[in-house]
Amino acid sequence: MKRTITLVVNGEEWRIDVEPNDTLLETLRDRIGVKSPKVGCERGDCGSCTVLLNGRTARSCLVLAVEADGMEVTTVEGLGRDGLTPLQNAFLEENSFQCGFCAPGVILAATELLRENPNPTEDEVKEAISGNLCRCTGYEPIVRAVLRAAGAEEKR
Ligand code: FES
Ligand code: FES
Repeated sequence: MKRTITLVVNGEEWRIDVEPNDTLLETLRDRIGVKSPKVGCERGDCGSCTVLLNGRTARSCLVLAVEADGMEVTTVEGLGRDGLTPLQNAFLEENSFQCGFCAPGVILAATELLRENPNPTEDEVKEAISGNLCRCTGYEPIVRAVLRAAGAEEKR
């Protein structure tokens, strides 16, 4: 039986009917039209579906939409609403992506890291993005971008 839930997605409130087994990932992409969380493994392994749920990273393929009822969801579309963040600019400057499939999840994982730890070490950056798989570039340019952004994010 469908249930009506409320989500605040990138600052906009949605009331939406969902099935009990609809995932947050499906709901964001197919019902709300937010496409940056990507459909990868759909079992919690790759991190491509990462979103911020009430400010904390979550794998949206593992969260039922009904479990997210009343919560705030942020995706990269929301991060960039007022222009690219220093972190996003650093990823551009370091050419940190190739196909970009992993990019939304990596950016959100790194955003959470820099909010909690504005000056991380290289090892802390690697640990923070360890749940986000990139099939293309390797991780060095990604780590460089996060370290490059660290000081700039702190001054925002
Ligand atoms: S699609 Fe969710 S972790 Fe891979
Ligand atoms: S840039 Fe292609 S998966 Fe990371």
